[in-house]
Amino acid sequence: MTETTLTIRRPDDWHVHLRRDAMLEAVVGYTARQFARAIVMPNLAPPITTIEMARDYRAEIVAAAAAAGHPGFVPLMTAYLIDGIDGAMLARGHAEGVFVAAKLYPAHATTGSAHGVTDVARIYPALEAMERAGMPLCVHGEVTDPAVDVFDREAVFIERVLGQVVRDFPGLKVIFEHITTAEAAAFVESAGPNVAATVTPQHLHINRNAMFAGGLRPHAYCLPVAKREVHRLALRKAATSGSPKFFLGTDTAPHEVHRKEMDCGCAGIFNAPHALESYLAVFEEEGALAHFEGFASEHGPRFYGLPLNEGTVTLERVAQEVPARIEHGAISLVPFHAGQALNWRLV
Ligand code: NCD
Ligand code: ZN
Ligand code: ZN
Repeated sequence: MTETTLTIRRPDDWHVHLRRDAMLEAVVGYTARQFARAIVMPNLAPPITTIEMARDYRAEIVAAAAAAGHPGFVPLMTAYLIDGIDGAMLARGHAEGVFVAAKLYPAHATTGSAHGVTDVARIYPALEAMERAGMPLCVHGEVTDPAVDVFDREAVFIERVLGQVVRDFPGLKVIFEHITTAEAAAFVESAGPNVAATVTPQHLHINRNAMFAGGLRPHAYCLPVAKREVHRLALRKAATSGSPKFFLGTDTAPHEVHRKEMDCGCAGIFNAPHALESYLAVFEEEGALAHFEGFASEHGPRFYGLPLNEGTVTLERVAQEVPARIEHGAISLVPFHAGQALNWRLV
């Protein structure tokens, strides 16, 4: 059985970095041409910590998407949690339809996390308010303890932080973002229905060897960093299983090429241009095409308590080569799969 086209309900991306200004203008069309909605990460400088900031940022995104030819695109905004943040403000932003969720960045865990949470106890009142308001928590799940090996930071975060948060707030919806380990997949599977995870295309395609293939490969570097092959295989199994706990979140994280290829290169992979085709390749390789629509278009909205999209997108089995570079004015980006062939193409 080799289908030549695949039509699914229009999908959403539950984890994107759209940035701002010229970068936003350069990248938003790639997300908006595939996805009806996207959960937009708040790790800007300065971070999005107030309702007003989120409203302004949302308007910028809507305007940039419209200018790129996608007037219907719906950005779903998130609040950046900081120590002591006011839970009542978060709940109000949620009730007003501005904050769809709030994001926990452990301080210094990743790009744009310098203002993040230094100790999860400092946001416990906010988490209580979120639990009461039915407002989901998105989590970058890594400890920052320098004594913990970088490849173990996600697994240790489950032991030291996330397990406790989930026990202390049994009614809080938690999305364990961009999971990279077998431990994370198992944690999510065994937790209650209020705990889910997003999985990126890169963590389904590459293991940590990709960062060292013949030399240092900055475009395979993101956080959490790719792990051993055994973890990649566990993620593929979880994502393609049909379980409603796992859904699409690309974590597309554009950085200009000169900010990646430098002495201290930025973490983040720009996977938006071919995100759907990249995921679809995995589902096909795993013999799980029947579960692709659930992962891409159904599990996410159901978990967030949002309506499924109307309309469809169609992919056709037509090989395409991913360009080595994507240029927009002065901005130069290297996309995920640069120079490689993909078997499917979004119509
Ligand atoms: C993200 C970014 O560049 O904003 N980078 C990344 O490697 N994933 C931050 C994040 O999602 O952790
Ligand atoms: Zn992250
Ligand atoms: Zn991210």
